[in-house]
Amino acid sequence: ALAADPIKVGLIVPMSGPFASTGKEIWAAVKLYQQLQGDTVAGRKVEVILKDDGGVNPEITKRQAQELVSRDKVQVLAGFGLTPLAFAAAPVATQAKTPMIVMAAGTSVIPQRSPYIVRTAFTLPQATAPMATWAARNKIRSVVTLVADFGPGIDAEKTFTKFFTEAGGKIVENLRVPVRNPDYSPFLQRVKDAKPEAVFVFVPSGEGAALMKQYNERGLAAAGIKMIGTGDVMDDELLPAMGQAAVGVISSHHYSAAHSSPENKAYVEAFAKANPDMRPNFMSAGGYDGMHLLYEALKKTNGDADGDKLLAAMKGMSWTSIRGPVTIDPNTRDIIQDIYIREARMVNGQVYNVEIDKIEQVRDPGV
Ligand code: DHB
Repeated sequence: ALAADPIKVGLIVPMSGPFASTGKEIWAAVKLYQQLQGDTVAGRKVEVILKDDGGVNPEITKRQAQELVSRDKVQVLAGFGLTPLAFAAAPVATQAKTPMIVMAAGTSVIPQRSPYIVRTAFTLPQATAPMATWAARNKIRSVVTLVADFGPGIDAEKTFTKFFTEAGGKIVENLRVPVRNPDYSPFLQRVKDAKPEAVFVFVPSGEGAALMKQYNERGLAAAGIKMIGTGDVMDDELLPAMGQAAVGVISSHHYSAAHSSPENKAYVEAFAKANPDMRPNFMSAGGYDGMHLLYEALKKTNGDADGDKLLAAMKGMSWTSIRGPVTIDPNTRDIIQDIYIREARMVNGQVYNVEIDKIEQVRDPGV
């Protein structure tokens, strides 16, 4: 290809179906990045081709990845809203030697599925371990875990159980809820009957409001069973609708719209201006940083989009993200980042995850 040809990025995310909020947040962030930074880098135009995979059928994601590579000749694949979808596309990236930027999916093992995967999202063990340690230190002695029954949920369950138990806490029960059409109420009834001091929850982005509603309706809050979890359940996109019911919930995560830094203030303002009815959530952060990683890598290669050269440029890259300082671990290709403990509070009449503690430069601890 001529140096002046556009660089094509195939962005595969769920824009419809039960996980559409993930795709919409990532797409909004990708567009915003190009609006703010320009659509040209190192003399080459960056053209993003958006594909909606619907979020539930890995075969669709895989076929879209194949078509993007073979027909559209994209030099980069990006997106991947859920773990099974990232797994399905990984062999395509390997075969085509195409960098695959995972902006959303959070199961620990994902980057091991292809040497061409780089992740700008987070991992569930990375976010969960600090929550377990915090809970044990803050006099929570018994916990029931309640997680969505697939990769990230199982990672969260295992990590919470390991770190909480090691810190002297007691796990009363591990409960797993189906991912498709979940009904949380029978599981929450079991939690209520088990009478733990807290319930640790993981559900995918977009599901938190339904869980919170049933947690309150089943009387768990009234029974004094605290809700704690990774920030997925306290998704910024859903917080305004959860309202007062969410106040007081403690969660651990890598991004909050309330993160106090000049970079994030500018981001949240620009995002709100471009998308008046949305609040940027952690999925948007994965998308925004994924674009940043690509742009900076292209600067380093002087616009050469060869897969191996781009990947080499991405490894070890550090920058000040909207979430704080981050680095792509050159060995694991996973993101190293600060994890924050946050408390949901009313700020100017709206609920936000306000950061109250920070664990610096956390790597995926594995499980
Ligand atoms: C995954 C999906 C989510 O919506 C989320 O919040 C975290 C992880 C996943 O499928 O890996």
